[in-house]
Amino acid sequence: MPDPYRQSLSSQYAAVRAHSRALVQPLSAEDQCVQAMPDASPTKWHLAHTTWFFETLVLQPYMPGYCSVDPRYAYLFNSYYESLGPRHARPERGLLTRPSLDAVLAYRDAVDSALQAFLHSADAATLALAEPAIVLGLHHEQQHQELMLTDILALFSRNPMLPVYQVLSSALALAQPSNLQWHFAAGGRVAVGHAGEGFAFDNETPRHDVLLRPYRLAKRPVSCGEYLQFIQDGGYRAPRWWLSEGWAQVQREGWCAPLYWRDVSAKPAQHFTLFGLQPLDWHAPVCHLSFFEAQAYSAWAGARLPTEFEWEAASGGLEQLGQVWEWTRSSYDPYPGFRPLSGIASEYNGKFMVGQMVLRGGSRATPQGHCRNTYRNFFPPATRWQFAGLRLAQDV
Ligand SMILES: [Fe+2]
Repeated sequence: MPDPYRQSLSSQYAAVRAHSRALVQPLSAEDQCVQAMPDASPTKWHLAHTTWFFETLVLQPYMPGYCSVDPRYAYLFNSYYESLGPRHARPERGLLTRPSLDAVLAYRDAVDSALQAFLHSADAATLALAEPAIVLGLHHEQQHQELMLTDILALFSRNPMLPVYQVLSSALALAQPSNLQWHFAAGGRVAVGHAGEGFAFDNETPRHDVLLRPYRLAKRPVSCGEYLQFIQDGGYRAPRWWLSEGWAQVQREGWCAPLYWRDVSAKPAQHFTLFGLQPLDWHAPVCHLSFFEAQAYSAWAGARLPTEFEWEAASGGLEQLGQVWEWTRSSYDPYPGFRPLSGIASEYNGKFMVGQMVLRGGSRATPQGHCRNTYRNFFPPATRWQFAGLRLAQDV
């Protein structure tokens, strides 16, 4: 492999790993140890788990003589890889006061040094074998970078002191009002999925044809102000807009507004953000919705959610992409001909393909350059703590 390639991989690795460290810079050791809820993980666990990933998928198999920093970490920081044996229970990650944050940061430093040494010294054939796992590890860490932010927001939202993750030097610029415009698509036979150059996760492949009826997609996501009208029209009290499972969830949880919204009748109405408590920006995309709420809003608005294929086929004509993840009406299923990656990485995506819905587009918390128009994010339909909103679709 040519040296510029080693250099490029080395600097990409350094940049991604440094970004994780930059993200946790505003946090105390206590902030990084606590787990907000079973679905979320402590920051310290994210920092260690992404490190364990490189150690397990790259250094141990490909670096001769590599000795793990601490063999006990394999149990603590394995997330869900059954082929690697038993692991610490996910809901108890917040109980891990040991290893300390300092020990986890030292773990990162040790693995970074070993990985960089490997990138510069491995013979070309070994590096070629290890390269897919290194690249996967970088994209994996970027996914966890967004999770660090969603999880710290979930944590801070539970603290009556309303901690501020990022201090604003001036008020946030307000979103510009815009009338809802539509992007028309003729449909027909269109190709979806990833093909060709560049990284993609296995779940984006193989590229294949789908048949779409004519449709239109809103050029921008639904705004907070539009969503407020749904609330004020009694949307959370009207079962006719909701899927049965969603309505049961509304009853059980007492949902009456997006997660993190405060009393909407207050002046100004506020929501809790990474910048602390902030006035709601009525023209900004509504965020922190479950699939159920997105679906109910779309029904109330006389529209529907797009399928992931409608979204992908029209993505070149859409605006305000990358502000909020956009729920689609598509179940997270394998594409025809899907084959999981081989080895340990076979557990990365495929085994989660049941009971989850696809989200497209990326959010403001998604690391730059991480997303693509074929990218498939996925969460269970009741999930609210992600940066997720919606964009309307209609048949034409
Ligand atoms: Fe992970």
